[in-house]
Amino acid sequence: MGQDIDPFRAIAISRRAHDLKEEGRRILHMEFGQPSTGAPQAAIARAHEILDSDAMGYWESRPLKDRISQHYKDSYGVEVSPSRISLTCGASPALVLALASAFSPGDRIAIARPGYVAYRNTVRALNFEPVEIPCGEDVRYQISAAALDALDPAPQGVIIASPANPTGTIIPADELAAIAAVAKAKGIRIISDEIYHGLTYGPAIHSMLEFDPDAYIVNSFSKYFSMAAWRLGWLVSPREGVKRTGAYIGNLFLTAPSLAQHAGLVAMDAREELNGHVEVYRKNRELLLEALPKLGLARIAPPDGAFYIYADVSRFTNDSLGFCLKLLEDTGVATAPGVDFDPVEGHRFIRFSFALSTPEIEEALAKLIPWFGAL
Ligand SMILES: Cc1ncc(COP(=O)(O)O)c(C=O)c1O
Repeated sequence: MGQDIDPFRAIAISRRAHDLKEEGRRILHMEFGQPSTGAPQAAIARAHEILDSDAMGYWESRPLKDRISQHYKDSYGVEVSPSRISLTCGASPALVLALASAFSPGDRIAIARPGYVAYRNTVRALNFEPVEIPCGEDVRYQISAAALDALDPAPQGVIIASPANPTGTIIPADELAAIAAVAKAKGIRIISDEIYHGLTYGPAIHSMLEFDPDAYIVNSFSKYFSMAAWRLGWLVSPREGVKRTGAYIGNLFLTAPSLAQHAGLVAMDAREELNGHVEVYRKNRELLLEALPKLGLARIAPPDGAFYIYADVSRFTNDSLGFCLKLLEDTGVATAPGVDFDPVEGHRFIRFSFALSTPEIEEALAKLIPWFGAL
């Protein structure tokens, strides 16, 4: 029998937000990490062409795999043969594919707490055992090589995410190298979720492939490329894992949507438009980092990347879900409760997503300021 797993509570917040919207309320969606911009214009134009000209059967785009391979060379200086790249319906199936094909039932997989809600739950759903590493403000909510090394017995796997969800913090290059060294010494397989690459506000970003050529790399078009609903992502498998990944994807998922693959190829070269979104997020981040401390939300790790701010609300509540619901009812601002990301400490955190337009962020702040002021 499968294991029981927790629901994604932000979905309940989002449902309530949509109900309120239908009742005519103005809602600002800061609960999901979802760009409010659409796919790049050129990608949409390509999709229109394909709809009119292609019957669209099961298909795996060789040009897209070649383009992704080129991206690893250009961005990180690493060679990744296109044969190691599997195209998936987003990062979510890529994670399932990596876990299912690299580990055996009962294997222990280390994850950061707080961390993306689906890590803990997907690991459990696939009958592996999550080993949560508590990562506090002192380590900027990230797994360190020392913390991984300290696990006894060593886990079979570790999932790292840099930039991370829900905090946006990055693991610096020397720490990635140290994690790779610990993993190699102890036979720990690394899965690196690089879905927020492209969305950074200062520090250089590195792929785990620069330090561990045998890591599984998860990525997607949902964030930087602003194509969440097109359901397109990829998995890079180590050379010796390619055959098994191919067999698993063929049986579990078949192919990614062919329309999305055509559009995704074009999106990979829409840098000017996409980097424009990053500039909007940079501005939004600055606005929030300036305003939130004045609301009493001073304990936050300034995000190096992604589009989240994870804020300590313990001054106001011990029940982050109830707090998010009340905030939504009173102000129309939807946020995600920390309990999604951290079942132990998350009752005193909430996560703001700033993947909105700057006027929307300003509007949200105009509602948050009096609300927090009255608490
Ligand atoms: C860290 C992380 N990984 C994976 C995903 C899933 O993304 P996708 O839409 O590509 O399935 C998300 C979505 O928010 C995420 O935050």
